[in-house]
Amino acid sequence: MKIISVKDREEGGKIASKIIIDLINKKPDSALGLATGSSPESTYDELIKAYRVGKVSFRNVKTVNLDEYVGLSRSSEQSYRFFMDTKLFSHIDIEYKNTYLPNGMAENLSDECNRYDEIVESLSPVDLQLLGIGHNGHIGFNEPSDSFIKNTHVVGLSPSTISANSRFFDSVSSVPKQAITMGTSQIMRARKIVLLAFGYEKSEVLYQSLYGDITPLCPASILQKHDNLVIIADNESLQKVI
Ligand code: F6R
Repeated sequence: MKIISVKDREEGGKIASKIIIDLINKKPDSALGLATGSSPESTYDELIKAYRVGKVSFRNVKTVNLDEYVGLSRSSEQSYRFFMDTKLFSHIDIEYKNTYLPNGMAENLSDECNRYDEIVESLSPVDLQLLGIGHNGHIGFNEPSDSFIKNTHVVGLSPSTISANSRFFDSVSSVPKQAITMGTSQIMRARKIVLLAFGYEKSEVLYQSLYGDITPLCPASILQKHDNLVIIADNESLQKVI
């Protein structure tokens, strides 16, 4: 595991984007596992800037996102598809058909999980998986539970996740109660994992994830077993780690 300590999320975004750009320039048809939320936003901003000045092209890149809320359509501003479209995909030259997210509006969620498993399988191992970390240690929407769940599944969001994510919604009651998420084995198959963590509120969970017991009660702790894990984190989130 390599820890890169940065001043703030802007510097973190510069470093993470450089890792991604170098990868794509070396392997133009890279497959990327992507995340939503506030942690990767500065990385996406830097990728857009790099694309605009011709430092990288996404023409042959494929992306597969970690998760999506159940019940939100792609046109809903809080859906993760909308997030990815507006914060990254519509600003770069990626082919839209090569960008994959679970469909939160699927009529049959179990079929949708199977469909997504096939997509993930077809792109596995992704060259790089970008991750944020939830306050409760979730990665994707793999919430603390009794066991690690390997593949794509529907998950009931924990009260702490609903409360943390309510900042993107009008009220706590508008936050969907379920999501579709890639499983932990699928995340762990990535050739390289880049975990982003910013802010004091991530410090305890980051410490537990990196140095605590490996347990599904803290899903991010499974990352200790990955042999190519890079953590890009600011001083506040690293307070307990270094
Ligand atoms: C989002 C995702 C989540 C977030 C996590 C941290 O696709 O999978 O695991 O990475 O909730 O969210 P932020 O970055 O908003 O603190």
